[in-house]
Amino acid sequence: MFDLSSVDLLDAFTKEFRLCKVAEGEHVVVLAEPDSRGDYVAAAFGAAKSLGAHVISATVPGGSPAPMPSTHTGAGPGLSSVLDDTTAQDLLKSADFVVDLTQEGFIHAPVQQEILKAGTRILFVCDAPDVLVRNLPNEADKALVRRETELLKSAATMRVTSAAGTDLTVELTGSKPEFQVGFADDPGRWDHWPSTMVLCWPEISDGRIVLAEGDILLPFKEYVASPTTLHVSGGRIEGVEGGAEARLLETFFADADDKWARYLSHMGWGLMRSADWFATAMYGKGDLMGMDARAFAGNFLWSTGPHPVLGRESYAHLDIAMRGCSIAVDETQVVREGELTDR
Ligand SMILES: [Fe+2]
Repeated sequence: MFDLSSVDLLDAFTKEFRLCKVAEGEHVVVLAEPDSRGDYVAAAFGAAKSLGAHVISATVPGGSPAPMPSTHTGAGPGLSSVLDDTTAQDLLKSADFVVDLTQEGFIHAPVQQEILKAGTRILFVCDAPDVLVRNLPNEADKALVRRETELLKSAATMRVTSAAGTDLTVELTGSKPEFQVGFADDPGRWDHWPSTMVLCWPEISDGRIVLAEGDILLPFKEYVASPTTLHVSGGRIEGVEGGAEARLLETFFADADDKWARYLSHMGWGLMRSADWFATAMYGKGDLMGMDARAFAGNFLWSTGPHPVLGRESYAHLDIAMRGCSIAVDETQVVREGELTDR
């Protein structure tokens, strides 16, 4: 028997690490837990070494503080073994570049901000191999996501509409627009391979969101089967109407027993033209976080729960990816009926 999967991925990881500006003499830590993909650990280790970096593979115990399965949900609560261990944190802070191969990552764990403040770059990777390869970023993507981020920063209002009945008005002032581009090249930057998208963290939005058939509910990794209407007032979901999905969402909010569960969090649109809407259907749920759905070019992605800009800590994180929406940022139409506009 032989196992060539890590060697097969070496080229993609090396290209990705070049985008992350991994350079000779840098210190790279490959962070894993026992359930991490061994072939990713090996490919990351090999890619860092081939670029002349010092590399350490660090495996810490699994287990998260979040009361939910660690199945690539996107909640990003971090691993308890790192959150509770300053030696592990010091290792990550001392690195130039961390490849985070843990199941959930640390995106919503405050300790990640401390590590980034030390100047460490962090790249999170957890989707399936051909999702990574198909969506390998380009350097030119950064100019695009920057342009869209600047547009959000300069605007006061975002309006999202759809033929299904969505009509949501979002106040952008103070919403700290940002981007994900799929590679972490600047000191102190976190990013997620793959992802090409812009997002902001508004507090106030009002109106209704109507999920149409075929929209994607994450972290459940399920497609919406019947129209579902969410009534939003002051950034809070006041009620959900519809069939099975409405019941599912209401049950999720109730079970979370979390005061932020019903509040909207980040929202934005995808710019990843290589994304495949059907990836969610074609892989096992444990094989994906679902970045194809989250970053799909022309989608409207919105979420609930944790909101670092407003200091809301929560594990009740939904990401919902919708197609067919139109998005206007002040007077600029950025997405029309689910397609990026040509600007
Ligand atoms: Fe999210």
